[in-house]
Amino acid sequence: MDSLRVITTVRELQAEAERERRAGRRIALVPTMGALHAGHLSLVKVARERAERVWVSLFVNPTQFNDPKDFETYPQDLSKDLELCRSRGVDLVFAPSAAELYPEDAQTWVDVERLSQPLCGANRPGHFRGVTTVVARLFLAARPHVAVFGQKDFQQLAVIRRMERDLGFGIDIVGAPTVREPDGLALSSRNVRLGPLARQQALALVAALDAAQNALDQGCRQRDELLAGVRETIAGASQASLDYAELRDPDSLELAPSVLAGPSLLALAVCFRPDPDGRGGEVRLIDNRVLCPQPQTEDRA
Ligand code: PAJ
Repeated sequence: MDSLRVITTVRELQAEAERERRAGRRIALVPTMGALHAGHLSLVKVARERAERVWVSLFVNPTQFNDPKDFETYPQDLSKDLELCRSRGVDLVFAPSAAELYPEDAQTWVDVERLSQPLCGANRPGHFRGVTTVVARLFLAARPHVAVFGQKDFQQLAVIRRMERDLGFGIDIVGAPTVREPDGLALSSRNVRLGPLARQQALALVAALDAAQNALDQGCRQRDELLAGVRETIAGASQASLDYAELRDPDSLELAPSVLAGPSLLALAVCFRPDPDGRGGEVRLIDNRVLCPQPQTEDRA
């Protein structure tokens, strides 16, 4: 029997949320833009552990794309996504149209000012305003008790946590670890657009994170030295150009001090060109790791 419900209107979803809440059942929402992969499905699993009902939203949100070409080429496959949701026991999929989520002539945006500025915010103007606006809209439509997001998009998770807190949604925001390919590349819906050479070179991201981790483990605490190692690793990939590599405080996202003292977020964004034979497209990938310097003997002396 097909127990997966598909809802496309906000009004119907709100009515369903009301029914579930009256029956005393907890709802966990997993917001996605579809093209589901094992990373998204790991969030479904986390959601399942926290609520009786697991809802997934599938919506390629136009307002968070600052590059129209990226929006147009974003992969979409609704029937495959529904099949995957069904196979993982998802109870309900919300798949609205843009007109359903964005009333014509809408003037209201949700903007988390400071946390949205650095990193991906600096390089993708308006991106996080689009994310927080659509996530607020999804929260108001689904009225979940819990919402699950991936740590791969570290800044997005920080921005959404802050929005939830500032606006008092009363939703438990849960972060889930990054799921990777066997060779270490973080799963992303955009990976399918990498040419074969770029796909191979995309491992430079994880190699750069490893290089910084190794340098840290060897005792290096100098921010700029750690970042120089990261840049060098990315420079070794002919198809890649570094968008940013930064060390920041994991909570405030302020720049890390020049000598690392506590846990620091190493965040990377790298753009890949099409392969020389024309295969693949322009693809921007992100990855991150929180580096935790261990106290050294000489630190304590
Ligand atoms: P999307 O890129 O589809 O990602 C949906 C969720 O899956 C996000 O929380 C993201 O962090 C998580 N995710 C992606 N790759 C992952 C991986 N390899 N391991 C673990 N989790 C992973 O992020 C968005 O959509 C949108 O910005 C959205 C929040 C839905 C708002 O439009």
